[in-house]
Amino acid sequence: MAETSITLGGVALVGCGSATPAQRISNDQLGQRVDTNDSWIRSRTGISARHVIGPDETLTGLSHQAAANALRMAGWESESIDLILLATSTPDDLFGSAPQLQAILGAQKAVAFDLTAACSGFLFALVTAAQFLRTGAMRRALVIGADQLSRWVDWDDRRSCVLFGDGAGAVALEATSPDQNGLLGFQLKSDGSRGDCLNLPQVQNYLSLVAGNSHQQGGFKPIQMNGQEVYKFAVREVPTILQSLLKATNTKPESLDWLLLHQANQRILDAVADRFAIPQAKVLSNLAEYGNTSAATIPLMLDEAVQDERIKPGQLIASSGFGAGLSWGAALIRWQGPA
Ligand code: COA
Repeated sequence: MAETSITLGGVALVGCGSATPAQRISNDQLGQRVDTNDSWIRSRTGISARHVIGPDETLTGLSHQAAANALRMAGWESESIDLILLATSTPDDLFGSAPQLQAILGAQKAVAFDLTAACSGFLFALVTAAQFLRTGAMRRALVIGADQLSRWVDWDDRRSCVLFGDGAGAVALEATSPDQNGLLGFQLKSDGSRGDCLNLPQVQNYLSLVAGNSHQQGGFKPIQMNGQEVYKFAVREVPTILQSLLKATNTKPESLDWLLLHQANQRILDAVADRFAIPQAKVLSNLAEYGNTSAATIPLMLDEAVQDERIKPGQLIASSGFGAGLSWGAALIRWQGPA
């Protein structure tokens, strides 16, 4: 049989945007709720505050703001979008929030769906969207990472509640010629056998349905986390996958302009940077202000650094996401920005 080969095009990141809730809760404020304090939280995590969705805000609303900002930067009309991929584990609607986002944006032509991979969600969605564009099936995609873990945190569990916040970030991704490709490589991994280190499991609530038959009423427990196991997972797997990606793409650590990791803990960022001898000045971090916003961290951080012109067009970024699943991944990205 004759061999078939597909010629892939490229993808360019041409816009980004973000949005965070108005409510800001400092470490000292959290200390009024649970037995913790600013010095413990900052020294163990690098976090000083987090933003929490209030009664008048929704995940879809935050995602809309982030997406609209990305559209504006890219200079796109919403009718020109082919795909909206919303990476979230905490949709407003369990059936998916992306279609509501499509409607609010007025992106009638776009197919819109959610993708769930916890804190790795944005990276997984970016790579997924890129496949539609690189094969020529679609031309323009909006990839959003957004989460509202505050709805699922046990605010009386000091071992986990201090870590998380809410937010949304978005990237506008466009099909290009192969020589302008901005997604230079990626690797994605899952290991469900270690999933119980970090999960948001269903409550076991069986109710009688009809005589002799029962059903489980839907509902979830708060986030369950074994912090030390998750920490060990991150400092082992993130350097390993980055190493493998750099090797596969023939990239030397010193040629990277930025390290853009999932923002979970400053100590994890420092450990990964040390492993590759990447100077602190090249390690992007906004943990202090937002904590861990799950699928939102990477595009939120990207947008902040593009807006303040730290990240410039043409620069090379190594990114890695990791979290519940367990799931983790890495991507080598060249930021293009708007034409
Ligand atoms: N405030 C004050 N004390 C706290 C506390 C808090 N918020 N949370 C835990 N402690 C206490 C513990 O009770 C323990 O006290 P003890 O020694 O008297 O028993 C002590 O601090 C040390 O706890 P430990 O769990 O060993 O701390 P740690 O150094 O492992 O730090 C994490 C805890 C959660 C910060 C750290 O494990 C971590 O960041 N893990 C990764 C979590 C993560 O990133 N999750 C999301 C991934 S996407």
